[in-house]
Amino acid sequence: MRFTKILSYPMAIVLTAAGTAWEARADMALTSKELLGKALFFDTGLSTPPGQACADCHGPDVGWTGPDQDINLHGGVYEGAVKTRFGNRKPPSAAYASFSPIFHRDETGNFVGGNFWDGRATGEKLGTPVADQAQGPFLNPLEQNNSSPLDVCQKVVASNFAGQITGVSYSDLFTHSFGPGSLDCNNPLDTYDRIALAIAAYEASSEVSSFSSKYDAYLKGRTTLTKQERKGLALFEGKAKCSNCHTTKGLGHGRSLPLLTDFTYENIGVPKNSENPFYNMPAEYNPKGITWLDIGLGGFLANRPDFSQYADANKGKQKVPTLRNVDKRPSLVHLKAYMHNAAFKSLKEVVHFYNTRDMLSGCDENSQPKPGINCWPAPEVATNVNRTEMGDLNLSDEDEDAIVAFLRTLSDGFQPTGHDSD
Ligand code: HEC
Ligand code: HEC
Repeated sequence: MRFTKILSYPMAIVLTAAGTAWEARADMALTSKELLGKALFFDTGLSTPPGQACADCHGPDVGWTGPDQDINLHGGVYEGAVKTRFGNRKPPSAAYASFSPIFHRDETGNFVGGNFWDGRATGEKLGTPVADQAQGPFLNPLEQNNSSPLDVCQKVVASNFAGQITGVSYSDLFTHSFGPGSLDCNNPLDTYDRIALAIAAYEASSEVSSFSSKYDAYLKGRTTLTKQERKGLALFEGKAKCSNCHTTKGLGHGRSLPLLTDFTYENIGVPKNSENPFYNMPAEYNPKGITWLDIGLGGFLANRPDFSQYADANKGKQKVPTLRNVDKRPSLVHLKAYMHNAAFKSLKEVVHFYNTRDMLSGCDENSQPKPGINCWPAPEVATNVNRTEMGDLNLSDEDEDAIVAFLRTLSDGFQPTGHDSD
């Protein structure tokens, strides 16, 4: 199925239609390194046992996050290549993650940048967080479960996936991207770095991080927003304070278009998701069992001698995710999940939570609790909850709907119509 999906990409068709596939490169939207990264991203042969690609947890149809509705409805956490093994968080989008700066503490004392919900893919090794990140999943026993970089290298050498989908073998793609002999399993660590750099290039490419939403078209003056969307945007940047963190200003990085995140960390008080399968993982992976708490950034800082003194002040904080593609789905009814633990299942619910979190009583104190209606469950981590920018926004139901309407303009692949098209 995934295979068919790839073939349906116009670029792949150009390639297979061309005489010698490689000569077609000049017509392609992707560079050789991006194309190599793409093959690695979609190749289901690079796991142990085979069967799991990056794309299984980061599907294009849903904005490069978790595609499976049944999983999203419950724990929101995806099974690894070894069935029955689960990680502990919902996959964030792999798009726009490339724009996150190297993890650092800024002049105001706030932590910024990195990849993963807790920032632990810092970018200190390979120069960008996405490249550091890309080395994680292949070796993670809860994800693609390979034993070593050598194991991954040998699987790439043995795989004919790139040849099948692009008409160019992995070996040729490596040569064109990194020079002759660069797919070399005698130096598996260097090759493993190249694998990560190629994936990072693909994630930053115009195919994954395409800045092609209705909102982008609007910013470029190529389309107009509806009245409700404009109202939502005004609230987003005003009364509802969303853009304090999901910033609508261009952040630089050579792009003036906004990323809808400032790559900082906050504890917004998201409740626990008791359906997280990680609670039931064996002690080898989850020694704390059902008492496990996701302390986010605080947990990563505690493991870093240079930052451990800041761990307590950052306990419970998670990275501000981009809101680009937050509503991207293959059909209107396709269910997605939100937050690091997939506790919320709709954008309306998310906005209602921001609006009323501190207005409603706790569900524990309520004899007939109806979450989101007469109560909200307690935060997963009670410390460091942001109480100044959210929780009691005094928005009407129509205001909430308008914000949701604006969030829907953030899905890539918008086709301007009528005179707007170009
Ligand atoms: C089994 C599901 C699974 C697979 C397979 C998987 N991921 Fe992920 N990915 C996740 C989860 C879960 C996280 C968040 C983990 C965390 O924060 O601790 C994540 C985080 C990321 C991020 C960080 C985004 C950000 O904004 O911080 C990127 C980028 C990413 N994955 C890319 C990849 C790539 C590339 C591969 C293949 C080499 C891959 N993923 C394989 C589940 C998966
Ligand atoms: C103080 C910073 C801050 C503000 C203000 C803020 N957010 Fe967030 N937002 C976050 C953080 C941090 C997360 C992730 C929290 C978690 O997973 O525990 C998040 C997550 C989300 C998500 C889930 C995205 C996903 O991929 O799972 C949505 C949607 C969202 N915010 C929308 C909004 C809207 C709409 C507003 C305004 C009403 C808003 N946010 C205001 C920091 C903020």
